[in-house]
Amino acid sequence: MTEERDTLISAEENRKMFDRIAKNYDVANRAISMGMDKAWRRKTIHLLCPFRGGRYLDIGTGTGDLVFEILDQSHNVLIDGIDPSEQMLEIARAKATVRDVGDAVSFLTADALNLPMEGAIFDGIVSGFCFRNIERRKKALEEMLRVLKPGGKLVILEATYPANPLIRLGYTLYTPLVPLIGKFLGGGSAYKYLVDSIEDFPRPQSVMDMFHEAGFTDVACKPLTFGTVSIFSGVRPAAG
Ligand SMILES: C[S@@+](CC[C@H](N)C(=O)[O-])C[C@H]1O[C@@H](n2cnc3c(N)ncnc32)[C@H](O)[C@@H]1O
Repeated sequence: MTEERDTLISAEENRKMFDRIAKNYDVANRAISMGMDKAWRRKTIHLLCPFRGGRYLDIGTGTGDLVFEILDQSHNVLIDGIDPSEQMLEIARAKATVRDVGDAVSFLTADALNLPMEGAIFDGIVSGFCFRNIERRKKALEEMLRVLKPGGKLVILEATYPANPLIRLGYTLYTPLVPLIGKFLGGGSAYKYLVDSIEDFPRPQSVMDMFHEAGFTDVACKPLTFGTVSIFSGVRPAAG
């Protein structure tokens, strides 16, 4: 970690890494999470609670699975999915074509630290396994707050280091397998980075403090699967 950033690797290294692993990302994701990522995404979108006619943003959309989960759980919504990795977006766009989503979804090349949107336009923002990779996380939260409508909700799904010593023991035994699975699927060092970045990521209370500092209210954290994954949420205060 350097003074200028919160992350182990730079944004550019991150983009190149996701470009490199894009082709096998979905398969690796399913294997490493032992198929649980689908349920985690379902719960994340339950918490977002998308409503008919709403406009949503998925930050670090990758291959688009959270976008498609929003579509599965709602009707007549508009969704923007943004990501700096062209290769990840290419797969998201191919999936959108197969699903024939029409104009409901736009996938755009962009970075969480500089969202190319005017303020207060989204009813909700979601982000899955991306926040850990953002160079300046508090600044990203401020940017998310800016584009949310007053009363709009932010829901972040992220891998977290378990607090319970017994669970941590099981986790420590399992994590050496992750880079091996990744290597088998052609991911090289990316999956070693995954394990290291989870350990380096702030503990849930610090993440919630960051939400408060950025200006969110109703901040909460819901641990899933023994705290190996958490859903953080917060609301942009209603204009007063
Ligand atoms: C682990 S993938 C998660 C993809 C998808 N959200 C999911 O749930 O499977 C992380 C994604 O975040 C993107 N990402 C990394 N840094 C980002 C940033 N600063 N702004 C936006 N997206 C970023 C990466 O390119 C990558 O596609």
